[in-house]
Amino acid sequence: MEYNYEDAYKDYPIENGIAVFDDGSMLMTRSIMDPLPAFMKKADMIFTDSPWNQGNLRSFYTKAEIAPDYGYDFLRFGDRLFDCIWEIDPRVCYLEIGKENLDVWLFQMKKLFKYVTFFNSTYYHDPQKLCYIVRGARKAYRGRKYDGMDEEDIISAVCKEEEYEIAGDLCTGRGLVPCAAYSAGKKFVGTELNHKRLSVCLKRLSGLGASYRVET
Ligand SMILES: C[S@@+](CC[C@H](N)C(=O)[O-])C[C@H]1O[C@@H](n2cnc3c(N)ncnc32)[C@H](O)[C@@H]1O
Repeated sequence: MEYNYEDAYKDYPIENGIAVFDDGSMLMTRSIMDPLPAFMKKADMIFTDSPWNQGNLRSFYTKAEIAPDYGYDFLRFGDRLFDCIWEIDPRVCYLEIGKENLDVWLFQMKKLFKYVTFFNSTYYHDPQKLCYIVRGARKAYRGRKYDGMDEEDIISAVCKEEEYEIAGDLCTGRGLVPCAAYSAGKKFVGTELNHKRLSVCLKRLSGLGASYRVET
């Protein structure tokens, strides 16, 4: 079965090259298992909803039509995700995760950030679909408690309320984070495994009025 995401990739191709926006924001099709592009290190705030477990990781590789590789190993994937965050060294980082690996994400975040907390959340605006947003930062958190909000609303609120200049997303997908950052008047950078999912992000950003060129 092919996953074409309403064919956005035909009008907004991004299989190769970097989408460079008028304000300097950048997006690229790239696996986090590969070396981090230099532009990702500009992010001073990260918000990433990566695959949550082994089965979820496998299904995203299937949807991307990418052959099995070490990216199928969830523990290695998790280690690499946190290595990327360490390399970027943002002042604040939000990660979305399900219950199964909440403890792993908290443990990894505590290795990188002095102050770690998390919020209870939901996804797809369905009260039955539970998830967690883990927040790590260099300074103690005195902001709003986002408990009970849907992840999409938390992303919008964080992009408006956090102190940052450039939002980074290592697993950009169809673009909730870039769209929220753009709507908040902020820059963004992002990578994504599946070019067809990243095309959906480009389509959405274009609909919001953003313009970009693809540089090779
Ligand atoms: C839960 S989704 C992200 C949802 C995203 N917030 C959105 O707005 O669509 C996880 C994403 O991680 C991507 N992904 C999986 N493995 C990856 C890898 N090795 N490198 C980069 N992205 C990856 C998937 O293709 C998928 O788009």
